[in-house]
Amino acid sequence: MHQAIEFGNRLLTFVLAFVALLVTIAMYKANRRSELKVYAWISGLGIIAQAVIGGISVLLDLQWWAVAVHFLPSMILVWVAALLYSRIAEDDHSAVSTALPPHIRSVLLCGAVALAIVLITGTMVTGSGVHSGDDGVGMEGRLNVDTKMMAIIHAVCMYLYLGCTLIGAFLIRRARAASAAQRAVMVLLAVIVVQWAIGVAQFYLGVPRWTVPIHIGMSSVVTACTAIVWAHSRRRLPHPETESSR
Ligand code: HEM
Repeated sequence: MHQAIEFGNRLLTFVLAFVALLVTIAMYKANRRSELKVYAWISGLGIIAQAVIGGISVLLDLQWWAVAVHFLPSMILVWVAALLYSRIAEDDHSAVSTALPPHIRSVLLCGAVALAIVLITGTMVTGSGVHSGDDGVGMEGRLNVDTKMMAIIHAVCMYLYLGCTLIGAFLIRRARAASAAQRAVMVLLAVIVVQWAIGVAQFYLGVPRWTVPIHIGMSSVVTACTAIVWAHSRRRLPHPETESSR
């Protein structure tokens, strides 16, 4: 079963790489702005880099830190894909405008940094726990810290992240920002609460196997939603005159 899952995961690399290639070609064919081309290139090259890192992590007997080093770049790729998705609809020739004031951007940035720490500490909880690495490796080479304490540190970082997002949501509403930005931050709050509930449930249930893929999957969703809220802080808004002449 483990081998089938691992092989399936490897095969999906080709599907992802193919999609990334199509996206990059589409950017050039449509002659889109260089920002979007850069995101497309990062996605494609990032997938190739991840294939290499994944292979190295297997050669290293799936040591917990090697698995963490393989997992975390995926979150960066999810962030970049979400930025590409958010920005693709914007007109290439419109000027960039600061859609959210600097103090809100700073709060959102603090939230993004807190999220990065949540993700890193999450891999450390796994690294010290029952699901770390290969069965053959045993407990040797696992992160030698108390799993319960590590989970508490992970959860505290998550509350900081939630706090920043709550303040961000309040400020975005108070600034009467675009309704799309207000909606995006409410969706983000909802997915953080869902992820919190899954995290707490797996903590108290003793980390059953079935919760792990859900917690990892939701990490991607939370990361993508954070990137989408961040994307709302800087927008290319069509010039009113250009709009009316269309
Ligand atoms: C935004 C909220 C959260 C995010 C993004 C998040 C993310 C993560 C990530 C990325 C991992 C590592 C997965 C892996 O390497 O296999 C993890 C593991 C873990 N998290 Fe969270 N987490 C969140 C909230 C919580 C909360 C509130 C708790 C409650 C204590 C929690 C408990 C755990 C536990 C127990 C593990 C270890 C699972 C295992 O051994 O496989 N998480 N988390």
